[in-house]
Amino acid sequence: MRDYREFLAETLIDAASLQSRIAELGVEISQDYRDSDLVLICILRGGMVFLVDLMRQITVPHMMDFMAIASYGTGVRQSRGTVRLTLDLQTDIQDKDVLLVEDIIDSGHTVHYVLEFLSTRKPRSLKVCTLLDKHERRETDVPIHYCGFVIPNKYVFGYGLDLDEYYRNLPFIGVIDPEKYHQNG
Ligand code: IMP
Ligand code: MG
Repeated sequence: MRDYREFLAETLIDAASLQSRIAELGVEISQDYRDSDLVLICILRGGMVFLVDLMRQITVPHMMDFMAIASYGTGVRQSRGTVRLTLDLQTDIQDKDVLLVEDIIDSGHTVHYVLEFLSTRKPRSLKVCTLLDKHERRETDVPIHYCGFVIPNKYVFGYGLDLDEYYRNLPFIGVIDPEKYHQNG
């Protein structure tokens, strides 16, 4: 695979800015959930890196669980508006205070679907924390209670977000240069 520097157009959010904003979110969430029974739910795989850093900034006791859905196929950059559950939770979230932790909200279809699905399990409360909000692209209204950064309509990668499944490990959020990045080469 190619070195990301060959198609990085710009660093949108550097590692230090990510970590300091996540620390702020951790403080806010810890205050808001101090008398709660918090469960963090992460949608695999994009939200994983954010979840791991965020939970270490949350000082109230909490559980965590993962779920997976299929929305974007490899190489496809458009949300199809249809989402399928591929991995269910292991935790019973009934009467729990659920916080859905997402990497990015784009069209909003994914989070819309996941919120509908989670609400059928009767949590006591259900809120959304997203690292990135690509607000201009929204097609379905979704409530966002905690947001790291509102970003412009550019395709980003790193810090959990992939380019055809690679580069999730990068500690910053980068923007691709579409002229220089092509799938499989
Ligand atoms: P939505 O259903 O359109 O809101 O899509 C959300 C999902 O699309 C995210 O969880 C990501 O997996 C993916 N996605 C949307 N925009 C980007 C991006 O700029 N980079 C990487 N993945 C993205
Ligand atoms: Mg995702």
